[in-house]
Amino acid sequence: MKHIYLDEIKKNESPPKIVNIFSQKEIKMIEELYYILPESTFNKKQNVRKKSWVQNYNKELDQIYFNKLKDVLGDYKMDSLKSETGENYYGLFHESFSPLPLHVDSGFDEKTIIYKQVITPLSSFGDTIFFKKRWYGRSTTFTIDKKELKFKPKPGQNDRSCDHLGDKNFDTQMHQKYLTHIDINNLKGLEIEMIYNWKVGDTLIVDRSHIHCASSIDQKKLGLTTFTKK
Ligand SMILES: [Fe+2]
Repeated sequence: MKHIYLDEIKKNESPPKIVNIFSQKEIKMIEELYYILPESTFNKKQNVRKKSWVQNYNKELDQIYFNKLKDVLGDYKMDSLKSETGENYYGLFHESFSPLPLHVDSGFDEKTIIYKQVITPLSSFGDTIFFKKRWYGRSTTFTIDKKELKFKPKPGQNDRSCDHLGDKNFDTQMHQKYLTHIDINNLKGLEIEMIYNWKVGDTLIVDRSHIHCASSIDQKKLGLTTFTKK
């Protein structure tokens, strides 16, 4: 799959931006919501716990969140799976104990005009590394593992690909400092666009086409991510 409305997608692209749109009280409300929401996934192997932001648990917060995003993003729509009652989820809470691999969250529908990814950390630990390279296919996990490359994704699961690779060796110092959980040969041709160090109170706004991964730190990270489209 390749995105059809590429021009439109590229027109809306911009450098990553950190904003402080939520007050301490609002961050606390978001955190409290996380604890009362039902569990969506607990993947023991990957040690990841996910919960979708289902609307109507805290209607006041639903409204605050939607509108504050609108202040920074302009017109946008949520681009996540829908609940059983057909309502958009407002985001995905993600609690992980081991770093996420190299991937892109470019979506699963070629007709979607993918827009920004909004990341709000709820723990001040670790980093997300964004690379300059962009990807306009389906959401993909990048790997050089031959066995892994044979993986056939089900609907909603990432493709596997090694088509992100280029010729230039990746910076060995950066690899040593941030990315030891990733084979350096899987980073060939990539350059870092931004290292985002997680801090509670920040919100990071970044294009969905950027290839990214977590830094190689083993400690619990909890954050909220919202994928948007135009
Ligand atoms: Fe991601």
